[in-house]
Amino acid sequence: PPVLTIKTSTLQVVQFAKILGVIFQANLKWDAHVNMMVNKGSRRLYLLRNHFYAKYTQRGNPLFSVYDYLSPATTTEQTFDSVLIPNDHVTRRKQDNYYINGSYLLRPHTSSHQRDLVKSGLDAFLVTGDVYRRDDIDRSHYPVFHQMEGVRLFSKHALFGEVKGGHMLELFEEGRRVPEKQERHTLEAAKLVEHDLKQTLVALVKTLFGEDLRTRWVDCYFPFTHPSFELEIWFGGEWLEVLGCGVMEQELLRRAGASDKVGWAFGLGLERLAMILYGIPDIRMFWSNDHGFLSQFRVDDVNQPVKFQPFQKYEPIVRDISFWIPSGFERADFLDLVRTVGADVIEEVAIYDEFVHPKTKKTSNSYRIKYFQLERLLTNEEVNSIHKKIQDAAVQELGVEGRF
Ligand code: PHE
Repeated sequence: PPVLTIKTSTLQVVQFAKILGVIFQANLKWDAHVNMMVNKGSRRLYLLRNHFYAKYTQRGNPLFSVYDYLSPATTTEQTFDSVLIPNDHVTRRKQDNYYINGSYLLRPHTSSHQRDLVKSGLDAFLVTGDVYRRDDIDRSHYPVFHQMEGVRLFSKHALFGEVKGGHMLELFEEGRRVPEKQERHTLEAAKLVEHDLKQTLVALVKTLFGEDLRTRWVDCYFPFTHPSFELEIWFGGEWLEVLGCGVMEQELLRRAGASDKVGWAFGLGLERLAMILYGIPDIRMFWSNDHGFLSQFRVDDVNQPVKFQPFQKYEPIVRDISFWIPSGFERADFLDLVRTVGADVIEEVAIYDEFVHPKTKKTSNSYRIKYFQLERLLTNEEVNSIHKKIQDAAVQELGVEGRF
């Protein structure tokens, strides 16, 4: 499959990633600050929260190392095997991923880097980067978006050090896997890690959306965490899922050479959060180079609230394309070709007719392509020229026989 060409406007999204990265670190400082305040105000509250809040500072150095330059070209081993995704798992499918060849693909999640960074000796890190999924394109899906991954490991001392009688507690046992914990973890360790994870993430989204934000946890499944959760926030009258997370599978840590530690991990979609935060109605707007769009986010202080001012939305221009398909034709390949050639002016591609010719037995496919531009009206000439390129590419790359 063709590999996506990435336009320079990625910079815009990377900017968001940076902003969220900064907010995340600020949040950690903020936690340390709260810890001091609570310490002054109420000894009892301090005792209850101390062992969670105190851990956010470490001898004056930032606790989390930030990685935002790791290449999106990863091996299947990094992306799938290292995070315990079984060999026959659906997420490995060619239709859903951008494979470069048999053993490399553009990462579909930032979890591809978990094992390597743990192996390098880090206890706490954040990874932000572009991730790629072959998916339909609509208001909330685009084949490239950005994630932030967070991982935090705890030694026995780090997890239990400040708990009263903590020296008596153990991280590991030879137990059974139950909904609350993995077979290797003690319930105390699993629960403390889960609690630290949840309060860290709730503090993060409250920093972004305000203290009054309503949140809830939903149980879910990931091959690399157990137990696993999704965080949902109440926004615009509905519950929106903003991230996945959980207690890291001990087998992953063992293979990464950290079998004496336990940890949590989370992954969140940056565009999703930014869309909610700024009221951006369409994920494709992150690829806009339009001054009217970009200038809205140029503020002196990242914490300054920004509400996106929508500009006029124009009617799409519609063009149809019909062709006889060759044997082995995959619809996903055609949809992909349209996206690649048409880049950001494709609003929608949908099949509207398929029939078999009674004599020749050849199959015809007809698709309707809606072209649009977010910031200005497309001319008929522009659409015709892009449509022609799609026709040519379909013939050359997919071997279809045009009925143009
Ligand atoms: N990688 C998961 C995703 O892309 C998110 C995740 C990260 C979940 C880390 C758990 C732990 O959906």
